[in-house]
Amino acid sequence: MMQPQPSARIRELRALLNRYNYEYHVEDAPSVSDAVYDGLFSELKQLEAEHPELVTSDSITQRVGNELKEGFVKVTHSTRMLSLNDVFDVEEVRAWVVRMDKLLPGSKHEFFADIKMDGLACALIYQDGVLVQAVTRGDSFAGEDVTNNVRTIKNVPLRLYETAGFEKLLQGRTEIRGEIVMLKKDFEALNKKRRQNGEPEFANPRNLAAGTIRQLDPRLVAARPLHFRGYDLLRDDPSDVPTNMFAYEALTALGISRNREASVFTSIDDAMKFVDHVGKIRGELPFNTDGLVIKVNDRAQFAQLGVVGKQPRAAVAYKYAAEQATTIVKDIVISIGRTGAATPVAVFDPVVVAGTTVQHASLHNADEIARKDVRIGDTVVIFKAGDIIPQVESVVTELRPKTAEKFEYEKALQEQYPELDFERTGKDVVYRVKGASGDLILKRAVQYYASKGALDIDTLGEKNVVALVDAGLVRDVADIYKLTYEDVIRLDRFADLSARKLILAIADKKQPPLEKFVLGLGIRHVGAQTAIDLANKFQSVDALKTATIEQLEQVDGIGKVVAESIVAWCADEDNLALLDKFTELGVVPYYEQKTGRLSGKSFVVTGTLTSMSRDEAADRIRALGGTFQTSVGKDTTYLVAGGKVGASKLKKAESYGTKIIDEKTLHELLK
Ligand code: IVH
Repeated sequence: MMQPQPSARIRELRALLNRYNYEYHVEDAPSVSDAVYDGLFSELKQLEAEHPELVTSDSITQRVGNELKEGFVKVTHSTRMLSLNDVFDVEEVRAWVVRMDKLLPGSKHEFFADIKMDGLACALIYQDGVLVQAVTRGDSFAGEDVTNNVRTIKNVPLRLYETAGFEKLLQGRTEIRGEIVMLKKDFEALNKKRRQNGEPEFANPRNLAAGTIRQLDPRLVAARPLHFRGYDLLRDDPSDVPTNMFAYEALTALGISRNREASVFTSIDDAMKFVDHVGKIRGELPFNTDGLVIKVNDRAQFAQLGVVGKQPRAAVAYKYAAEQATTIVKDIVISIGRTGAATPVAVFDPVVVAGTTVQHASLHNADEIARKDVRIGDTVVIFKAGDIIPQVESVVTELRPKTAEKFEYEKALQEQYPELDFERTGKDVVYRVKGASGDLILKRAVQYYASKGALDIDTLGEKNVVALVDAGLVRDVADIYKLTYEDVIRLDRFADLSARKLILAIADKKQPPLEKFVLGLGIRHVGAQTAIDLANKFQSVDALKTATIEQLEQVDGIGKVVAESIVAWCADEDNLALLDKFTELGVVPYYEQKTGRLSGKSFVVTGTLTSMSRDEAADRIRALGGTFQTSVGKDTTYLVAGGKVGASKLKKAESYGTKIIDEKTLHELLK
């Protein structure tokens, strides 16, 4: 794998992130999504954490808050405008509650949750009910005075309303904090106009809102409809606002817009139901949201819990999983499907996208690779929406290593499958194995599955397989488990007895040992011993299906090529569908830990044995918990000499301390 030098990678990431930052904050025209920015930013943070000597004070990670722009008066906040810790799943939410419970033992908290709006934070200061100042969040301690601009926002009352029961809040200082957003409909209307005028469109509502509020000309601000929604209310005397729910009721009473969905929950489970609900309807909300805010409802408790860094302990931001992420392409592995079609699969450093870990994605075909110009070593943007299979969306070409060569598909096919010829005919975008006319590959696959070393279904030999496939009864390997006596007896090859025998033999192999099943799948580079090692390590098909390259490489004897081949096999949708089909048909491989007298002992057989075949020797060794290897390595315990042992083998065995035994001794060990 091409692993970029950390120092070079850090330098490139900083340069690129600085550029993205400039596009975002100064030009209001970001060229990438937040998820891409966040992905690269966290990679930089990670690299800097691993190499603290490479951290420089001008690194983008060392910046705190936003820079203040010239032209606005700086205003110190009455209390800091904090931000929130992000959490991404129920477990993290629960862990947050546990942390609070430790600090406030015995107290029961109610939770308050609201939709998190994607805009910019702003504090409105009312003196005796009159708007006197509006300040951006800035660096959390001080922000910019944007009063003139905020006064143009139609739903910000210049004077608070009077409502019975809330009169107190019209006396003295009332600070209302909230989010300035641009509603989706206003944003779309603005862009439509710009399109008609031939002007470039704005990138997204939040940037436009942020850019607008920091315009020096309030007339321009007035021409871009902004919208304010409150989420907090501060008084000099905190006891004026006992709970967050009260603050929201007060906002409504004072004429400040706020989200009507905000509610109180007595348990975190109920709060999570709200999270799920909003997750479903968030597309229909009038503004963009990427999550929810969950806080302790009681404000005295909230204050008591205090602040760590820039974040209060008593609140979190629940973020819906990002549907995009960035990662590096480690390799492009081509897999051959049952029809002989070649499918390229990109193998990545594992990365979480939309809540699941992704380490590979199909690149579909040669044209697709060429169109996206994906190369080994490239940093790519991965996209995954909901349950949809992850895709490579684009390449971050700025981060391409100089050594990354254009991916040559035909050359790669030749390198990865030197024994096969491929062709691409007519308008077909897919390369296929030459001469793999019709169902040749499928026939081979079924035969292999049924072969002695794998499932050992003895009545399912070559001729029967050919007959079943040609008759259209078997369209994939799992189909053999669907065969009925009636299906089979119709074929010329079968008579009553042979048909019965076949059906029984197949049914007999519905609960195969895991290692035989894994071998039977015919994954390239996975031979009998590797299948056993895989079974021992992962112990189920499901665990193997989601194994990472790193986990696979931990298995003795599995290197990069084998690991990538397995991962690529598991990336193929047809293969995954096949595994599901096996399950649906009741094929349940079982795993049995083989411990016995030979546990921890490994054997290599050289030459020919007289009393048994190599396969038989291997099976018997394994049945007693031993390992059967094909060549002598440093972990080989015994070299079984069938006949004379060559000098080089002998020397190797001696250097590893491997004991050389004859066939008779093997027999004794197997007794
Ligand atoms: S409550 C201590 N409620 O999200 C901060 N914030 O990372 C308590 N935001 O700075 C904030 N919608 O700008 C709260 N319904 C909401 C919000 C919200 C958006 C923003 C706000 C804050 C940031 C927190």
